[in-house]
Formats: sequence, structure tokens, C-alpha cells
Amino acid sequence: MLPIIVLSLVVVCFGPTVGAVPVGSLDLNKEPFDLEARAIEMAPPAPQWVGAPQYPGDDTIGVQVERSGLIDTAKRWPKNATTGWYDFNYYITPNFTAAEKSLILVALNIIHRDIAKVAVRPWVSGKKEYVYIRKGLAGSGYVGMQKGGQIVNLEVSHLGTCMTKHTVLHELTHALGFHHEHTRPDRDSYLEIVQANIKPAYLHNFQKYSSQTVTTAGTAYDFASVMGYGLYSFAINPAQQTMKILPKWSHLTYGWGAEYSRTDITEINLMYP
Ligand SMILES: *[C@@H]1O[C@H](CO)[C@@H](O)[C@H](O)[C@H]1NC(C)=O
Ligand SMILES: *[C@@H]1O[C@H](CO)[C@@H](O)[C@H](O)[C@H]1NC(C)=O
Repeated sequence: MLPIIVLSLVVVCFGPTVGAVPVGSLDLNKEPFDLEARAIEMAPPAPQWVGAPQYPGDDTIGVQVERSGLIDTAKRWPKNATTGWYDFNYYITPNFTAAEKSLILVALNIIHRDIAKVAVRPWVSGKKEYVYIRKGLAGSGYVGMQKGGQIVNLEVSHLGTCMTKHTVLHELTHALGFHHEHTRPDRDSYLEIVQANIKPAYLHNFQKYSSQTVTTAGTAYDFASVMGYGLYSFAINPAQQTMKILPKWSHLTYGWGAEYSRTDITEINLMYP
């Protein structure tokens, strides 16, 4: 027990968080998430993808940023005045295989389970804001709620698979209003971005945002965030890193999990109080 306690004190006070264990703040009044999604019978209007992506695999297109949490409150999912929860209604197009659909439902369930005030439910007729999860364009989407249906693209492409629990949760968290962890205003205190080894078409995924656009909500840099990238992501030379941990933090483990880190949960709960 002792080493764990010491480590958690260190990370809270002085450094980035690592290897955090997700903690759910289950609202017992919320209905359990329907993992079979039996309620989906109708399809909502298919939204238009605005602005063709310039390149596949670009996972945040047409973004208005905020964690890297967006500050712009117009990009948040609206609170349901009746229930007091933020409705995050979804529709999954029929193109996915049964296994892929199950994976998407598992990721949606993580949001419903871990984020106290966000209620994830299938789309119902008349609901104007919803996430339209469709197959295509690698893994991509917009950051923060878009008016009308909002597309989240997922597929297995030549760039690799976006059909993993980590990536599905990552893309859906963009839709909730979060940018990449490594675009935080303070990221240069933790990581060195190796621009020369990043494929030019993907450089913007490493663009740092100002504190006018994004907020870290006072949280420590989180090496375990589901919104992080791998240290070799989008490398020209795949044997070399695109992001390096600064020597100061080299004793810490870098790496995302397939679930939210503790800080992820804290930040999302702060955005949806
Ligand atoms: C609010 O939630 C209730 C209960 O789930 C639902 O019937 C209602 O349609 C929701 N309101 C809006 C504006 O979506
Ligand atoms: C998904 O299915 C729809 C309707 O059947 C079809 O129009 C669309 O092209 C399909 N998309 C993919 C990526 O297979």
C-alpha cells in the first residue's frame, strides 16, 4: 500500500498524473445503460459532414477547441431541464458489425457510468442534439457539441484500427468538448514535440492551444489521459518518437488506458456539473 500512497501524493502535488485508476461517480438515480441498445428502432436525420477532411485519420476536424476542455459553453451538451442531466443521445448506423457495435456501446457505457451528470441514451424521435456514429474516415469528429446531429466517424482503415475501446472513447470525448491532452497550454513543461518527425498533414493535431480557448480546470497534466496520443503517433520514421517525455518526468509511466483516468473524470465532471 505504502508506495501507492506516496505516488499519489506526488502526482497530485507536483507532477503529471500517471496510471490513474478510473473512479466512477455513479448517480444512482440514472437508469442503467442499455448495453443491448434495444430501444433504437428509428434512425435520426443523417447529418452532413461539413468540410471534407483533408486527410483520413485526422481525428479533430473543423474544431473549435477547448482540456483542453472547450471554454465555449455553446459547444456543451445541453442540460435537460426535467432530469437535470446532460443528455448525450446517440445513434449507431447499421454498417458496423455486431462486435464493433458492442465495442461502441461499451465506450458509451463508460461515459454514462463515470460522468455523474451525463446521461447517455439512444436517440429518440424529436431529439435535436445527438451523436451520429458512422463508419468511415478513420476516426474523426468535431470537438464539442454541434447543433443538429453530430458525426463521429470510426473505422478500421489503412491507418490502423479505430475500433478499440480507447479510440472509440477518445473520439466520443472529443464530442463531449475535449481536445487532446498534449495540446494543453502547459504541455511544453511535460513533453517535447518532435515536429521534424511528424507527418506534415497531421501537425495540427499537435498544435498547442492558448488558455483563452481551452481550460485545464486546474488539473495536473495527465500522462494517463484517454485524450493523449502515443509517443510515436503520426511519425514519419515510426522507429522514432513524435513526443518525448521531458527528462524531469522520465521516472513516470506514459500511456493511455482503455478507460478514463481519474483526471479525465474530474475534468469532464467539471465541464458538466
Ligand atoms: C428530458 O428527459 C426526459 C426524460 O428522459 C425526456 O422525456 C425529454 O424528452 C428530455 N427533454 C429534452 C428537451 O430532450
Ligand atoms: C453505410 O450504410 C449506408 C446505408 O446502407 C450506405 O449508404 C453507406 O454507404 C454505408 N457506409 C459505409 C462506410 O459502408
